[in-house]
Amino acid sequence: MKYAIVGTGARHQMFRNAIARNYGNRHTIAALADVNAHRLTLSAEWVKDNASRDVPTYEASDFDRMIAEQRPDTVIVTTPDFTHNEYIVAALKAGCDVITEKPMTTDLTRLKSILDAQRESGKSVTVSFNYRYTPARTQLKDILLSGAIGEITAVDFRWYLDRVHGADYFRRWHRYKDRSGGLLVHKSTHHFDLLNWWIASTPKRITANGRRAFYTPEMAKALGLDGRGPRCHGCPVADKCDFRLDLEADAALNALYLEAEGDDGYLRDKCVFADDITIEDTMQVQVEYANKTSLNYTLVAYSPWEGLEVKFHGTKGELTHRHVEVHGVFGGKRDHAHQDGMTTELHLAGGLPQSIPVWEGSGDHGGADPVMLGYIFDKENMEPDRYGRSSNQVQGAWSILTGIAANRSIATREVVDVDALLAEYDISLPRG
Ligand SMILES: NC(=O)c1ccc[n+]([C@@H]2O[C@H](COP(=O)([O-])OP(=O)(O)OC[C@H]3O[C@@H](n4cnc5c(N)ncnc54)[C@H](O)[C@@H]3O)[C@@H](O)[C@H]2O)c1
Repeated sequence: MKYAIVGTGARHQMFRNAIARNYGNRHTIAALADVNAHRLTLSAEWVKDNASRDVPTYEASDFDRMIAEQRPDTVIVTTPDFTHNEYIVAALKAGCDVITEKPMTTDLTRLKSILDAQRESGKSVTVSFNYRYTPARTQLKDILLSGAIGEITAVDFRWYLDRVHGADYFRRWHRYKDRSGGLLVHKSTHHFDLLNWWIASTPKRITANGRRAFYTPEMAKALGLDGRGPRCHGCPVADKCDFRLDLEADAALNALYLEAEGDDGYLRDKCVFADDITIEDTMQVQVEYANKTSLNYTLVAYSPWEGLEVKFHGTKGELTHRHVEVHGVFGGKRDHAHQDGMTTELHLAGGLPQSIPVWEGSGDHGGADPVMLGYIFDKENMEPDRYGRSSNQVQGAWSILTGIAANRSIATREVVDVDALLAEYDISLPRG
């Protein structure tokens, strides 16, 4: 199979490396495209060095010509979120299948264009929800499918981003709501997708609160960062800022971003306390699902530790999973939690809490990425997936609808009915 990749930044490397190295006996990278010539050349050089292949490269504006000349079977979209729709639609219209990074897109107009193009072309859209494949999260699906806690009635789900990872969403395109949809779309698409999949339902009514409470100019002042510059590179107070991202000190970041700035002015290390940030860092969402399950959800982007806590309440008992990914965080000092950082507990009514040995894996995103790549690039040799982890445009759409509706609720202070929202944009979507 021939693959073209559009967007040759950090994330495309996972797909590129898998195709060129792990699955190179059956797949090839037919072409690469980007708006940034430096990153494009870097990626093509990597393919040359690692797969002994001269891969054709294209300016992103020549995307249609790339498809016509190189005839890829599948286009992989790893550009910033707000541009996904453009390439998904163009690739589908040209007769290609599509694999897109999450979130599938950022708003309802873009969503409609993707759904229409998919329906008209009949080609496939795969959304790479790697979180479903993390062994411990697949295990939760396994336990819930077994009916151990009976009917699921309510869920408490909290996700904490620490001051290293969380801060990173405030440095570049993610920090503008019109480019990422805000964290409730950009980041929570993973979480809301997990929830839709875990409880086998879709969101119906949503209320939310959210604000930027921490990454603010006022906080910079309180931290003694008066006189800060617009970015870390060359910032007069960089030495005393715990949030500094030192691009020069990291060979990979230096090559991918600092050395590429001349081409398009994309700055990877803008100040996380800048005034022009338009996304929230503190969000709480309540959801009523089609199957009547209710959800309380919290996302905070400046926690002292990173991880998640999820509790499923059921008619027979509770299932609780906690994952402390990293802790002891500040000023770039992060300590990865050991295996005991992940716990799962089943507490059935009338019994004592029972600790469940957690399924483990290895590789990026807690062992998720290698399993997902196996199902994408080598499906014939994988076991049939009894958990239904692969996701298409329908699951991609439902995963962003909670965040899009929550954004509307934050703006209007009103409860948002998802069916009404879909009707407003003339979108029809099957409920799972
Ligand atoms: N599933 C995950 O765990 C995961 C992790 C990281 C990123 N992602 C997703 O991957 C995507 C890329 O993220 P990233 O961190 O690699 O970002 P990035 O900024 O490092 O890379 C984006 C690339 O796209 C290029 N680009 C920008 N505008 C473009 C346009 N209009 N046309 C073509 N190319 C364009 C940039 O030059 C850059 O090379 C995002 O959608 C992000 O949400 C997913």
